Amino acid sequence: MPRVTFVPEGKTVEVPAGTSILDAADAAGVELPHNCGGVCACTTCHVWIEQGLESLSEIGDREDERLNEAAGLGPTSRLGCQAEVGTADVVVRVPHNRIAS
Ligand code: FES
Repeated sequence: MPRVTFVPEGKTVEVPAGTSILDAADAAGVELPHNCGGVCACTTCHVWIEQGLESLSEIGDREDERLNEAAGLGPTSRLGCQAEVGTADVVVRVPHNRIAS
């Protein structure tokens, strides 16, 4: 199973392919805000993917639209509730220094 590592927490969890980054964070005991409950209606689950970006599920139109509102948007930004792990290992940076929206 692919391993998902969260930084700066330094916690790693193995999850089945198809698991969202948000669910992986939960399994790893990493706090990833998700104010809308994971329905792509906020940006609080925004993360930066430091490794394995290409292995994640493709970004959808709704996620793409929503991401544009995220503070600290970068080229490897994804919404944790929408991005699903594929077969490769992933490293995820959780931006804790943002203002939750
Ligand atoms: S939890 Fe709201 S968009 Fe992911």
